[in-house]
Amino acid sequence: MDPANVSKRETVAHLLVDAAVWAPSVHNTQPWWFDAHDETVTLHSDTERRLDVADPEGREMLISCGAALFTLRLAVRRLGRLPEVRIAADPDRPGLIADVTLGEPRTATDEELRMYDQVKRRRTHRGAFRAGALPVGLLQSLRAHACAENASLRIVADPRVRVALAALSEAAEQVQCADPAFAAEMARWAPAPCSERLDGVHESAYPRDPGRTDPHFAGRDFARGQGWGLAGDEDGESAGVVGVLTTTGDGREDWLRAGQALQRVLLRATEDDVSAAFHTQALEVPELREFIRTRFCDGTYPQMLMRFGVADERFDSVRRPAAEVVVGEI
Ligand SMILES: Cc1cc2nc3c(=O)[nH]c(=O)nc-3n(C[C@H](O)[C@H](O)[C@H](O)COP(=O)(O)O)c2cc1C
Repeated sequence: MDPANVSKRETVAHLLVDAAVWAPSVHNTQPWWFDAHDETVTLHSDTERRLDVADPEGREMLISCGAALFTLRLAVRRLGRLPEVRIAADPDRPGLIADVTLGEPRTATDEELRMYDQVKRRRTHRGAFRAGALPVGLLQSLRAHACAENASLRIVADPRVRVALAALSEAAEQVQCADPAFAAEMARWAPAPCSERLDGVHESAYPRDPGRTDPHFAGRDFARGQGWGLAGDEDGESAGVVGVLTTTGDGREDWLRAGQALQRVLLRATEDDVSAAFHTQALEVPELREFIRTRFCDGTYPQMLMRFGVADERFDSVRRPAAEVVVGEI
């Protein structure tokens, strides 16, 4: 698509942000806002949407912003331009993440166009997966995509490590649920049914009765004992393939890298109708994260813990529209 053909009402910035908002974000906090000038879109984090209890350093907030940044880059490629990305490092403006400018013309590859087509199709899965193997070559491709963003996707092949990671997720889930501050924060981002909010995890985003898998990875308690969630036939029985996304460092730029790698991996998986379920509770408990880092990640920093598989049901999600998250001309 040639940017010159984009109509005035639907500006280039609108097109880019309209895609970026569909990035995954922790508890669907959508911790971002944008401003647009000429051919540059600037991504900012919205610290009022940070999870102060679960994510006091803003690691997950920046992973979420990284996922939005990758989507912005991909949307620029779809317009047939090269993205020029300048990661901001201004201590006086810590919320400033990056400028993404439309650079020189370069036709998008088929791979980029296929990936872009998944942006609004991709959904987080919660629960069991269908039994059976993933498409041949997919895991190798996912690892290569993570690597291209300077992160690593470590596939957990050892069944004992899978059991240990599942147990650590369960432990973290119990510890968090027992903490009133965690529970209150979760309640803030898991609205009751029929809410018209355009953020948070709604009841159409999780199953009422998640099937148990072996080993069982605890889901988040979005329903809080209220019986909320989508009713459905829980046919799945498999935990799927377990993966940990890691980075060699653990600072702001590493978290942004992790987010870009995450979205790239997820979009590639979606192309093959493979979904991901996330279990990041243990990574929010510093002692457990450190244990996972030293025991299972060769000292690299675990940023996301996830399972990949083919899901029978597709959950829903919501987003604030571009017009609501762009400040300035759009
Ligand atoms: C850093 C991060 C951590 C996440 N952790 C979890 C998690 O522990 N459990 C879960 O069910 N979803 C988790 N998610 C998925 C978000 O809840 C999901 O992206 C959001 O609700 C939007 O839904 P969508 O991905 O279907 O568009 C996480 C996402 C990110 C980016």
